Amino acid sequence: MCGIIGYSGQISVSTKPLEVCLQGLGRLEYRGYDSAGVALAAPGMEEVAWKKKAGRLSNLEESLKKNPLPGAQVAIGHTRWATNGVPSDVNAHPHISQDNKIALIHNGIIENAAALKFDLESEGYTFVSATDTEVAAKLLGKIANQIIEETGTPNLFEAVRRMARMLTGAFTILAVDVRQPDIVVGARHDSPLVVGLGDGESFLGSDVAAFVAYTKEALELGQDQAVQIQGGNVTVTDFDGNVATPKHFTVDWDASAAEKGGWPSFMDKEIHEDPEAVAQTLLGRFDLDGSLNLDEVHIDEEVFRSIDKIIVIACGTASYAGFVAKYAIEHWVRIPVEVELAHEFRYRDPILTPRTLVVAISQSGETMDTLMALRHAREQGSRVLAICNTQGSTIPREADAVLYTHAGPEIAVASTKAFVAQITAAYLLGLYLAQVKGTMYRDEIQDILRDLRAMPEKIQWVLDNQADTIHDAAQKLINAHSFLFLGRHVGYPVALEGALKLKEIAYTFTEGFAAGELKHGPIALVEEDEPVVVIVPSPRGRNILHDKIISNIQEVKARGAFTVAVAEEGDPDVEQYADVIFWRPQCPTLMSPLVDVVPLQLFAMDTAELKKLDVDKPRNLAKSVTVE
Ligand code: M6R
Repeated sequence: MCGIIGYSGQISVSTKPLEVCLQGLGRLEYRGYDSAGVALAAPGMEEVAWKKKAGRLSNLEESLKKNPLPGAQVAIGHTRWATNGVPSDVNAHPHISQDNKIALIHNGIIENAAALKFDLESEGYTFVSATDTEVAAKLLGKIANQIIEETGTPNLFEAVRRMARMLTGAFTILAVDVRQPDIVVGARHDSPLVVGLGDGESFLGSDVAAFVAYTKEALELGQDQAVQIQGGNVTVTDFDGNVATPKHFTVDWDASAAEKGGWPSFMDKEIHEDPEAVAQTLLGRFDLDGSLNLDEVHIDEEVFRSIDKIIVIACGTASYAGFVAKYAIEHWVRIPVEVELAHEFRYRDPILTPRTLVVAISQSGETMDTLMALRHAREQGSRVLAICNTQGSTIPREADAVLYTHAGPEIAVASTKAFVAQITAAYLLGLYLAQVKGTMYRDEIQDILRDLRAMPEKIQWVLDNQADTIHDAAQKLINAHSFLFLGRHVGYPVALEGALKLKEIAYTFTEGFAAGELKHGPIALVEEDEPVVVIVPSPRGRNILHDKIISNIQEVKARGAFTVAVAEEGDPDVEQYADVIFWRPQCPTLMSPLVDVVPLQLFAMDTAELKKLDVDKPRNLAKSVTVE
């Protein structure tokens, strides 16, 4: 939620600061696209230069073309997902201090903004917007002037720290001050901020996408830390001014990975990266003898052996990946696996012991609900392992251990390749537990790993062979008012995920159900031509599941439903009963979610495109949900 960028260069007046901000905002726009704005400072300026516009970044760029801003040495830029105040020009960031010397941008929610505003108003400060951010801007202006009165010199770094100590809630704040036109200062509490290290220049960003076009060298800023960048110099302190040493890392993907690369949308590109996301997540996690090696997670085998329960905490798509993994891990490791929506978890007094392994799954590594659940689990003495796709983000930093998915940057708001990568990583964790606990024979583990390694090719088969059928189905069902998605066993979370995709990008009312629930209520929704999408398990193996799902298809068909099945190639029963079939190649039941989700991702995307909707930036949503 909200994308933030800051830049400090060596040259006192140039167009680079603005260029860096606009370029970075383009890459961060997936975090929020209600409005965008920039502020600049340069030696000799009396007041900060700024511009902001409601709507997409392109509106701001248009406005800057008509009325350009002057050259500068430093700049900050913001793209907003509105929390306080409607999306509008006036509520857009930056917000400016009363004397126009300071500009400030913010991600998060300042919970004590009303009280602070009340005090400021009683001192004569005036407000034009409905945002908590303007309160911070006015407050920072006041504190900065107090410091000048006290010491005779401006000190924006100290002013930001003093302000940070007064704020409650969640925030990343960046500010510039014309009286110190070569620095940008930032502070973070429960909201992300990373530093990019350039040659004689430095960057600040909500995530590395902000500056990866300029540098891959980065620093992770810790909780309750403030940072000052001044050309190539970076200073990090806590909010009391004690110098801190942040962790250095090198970004492991190129700027081109966060570009469309010829695809019509990021979502299209990312769905087509599903096979690679699985393959990359498997890479490098085996010893020469083929056994699984998860040394990178830095948890002793002894500790893993002692684990007697797993609780997965996650939201949205990540929670469905955890739900799929539950079936596999319980089967392989014979310990209970609970899957809990992170926002429900800490409010129900969960039973956590030192032998519970809490697995926090998050693509962004910033989801506030998941972060809060993680903290709760650690406070209760449980170990937390993060499955995450984003280096330098908060969740892996605060977890005891991390298993990275290597899906590459996911830009489209709808999560796709992250889902298959999360399942893959969770499966590796399950098999590793089975290996160290000895709940499976080595040969059995090797067989499953072989199946897993075969999945990228099978996903590719779906992408190569089913696209036309899926597109035709989307065209046929474009005017449907609602959809039902049904699945059993691992097909159930896949049904939930397919339903989520369709709601979030095609805005169609859609519900996912366990197929067994059908007769307990949902079947009442089925009327003539109601589309029902059914995930059909393989007729081989556990065919009892298959037969039951075929009965479910017959039941809804008998009531007029239009049935779409995701089924194994050549399944004769499905051919007999389903109106449309998205085929998958043969694979073991526990592997099927990795392929079955792919046609559902394509179906949602095609439907949204046919409706002329923006598939990458659906309404009301943002990629990283960094507020509770
Ligand atoms: O970054 P995370 O994986 O923690 O995000 C969790 C959910 O917010 C996310 O999966 C969301 O449901 C997606 N928009 C689904 O496509």
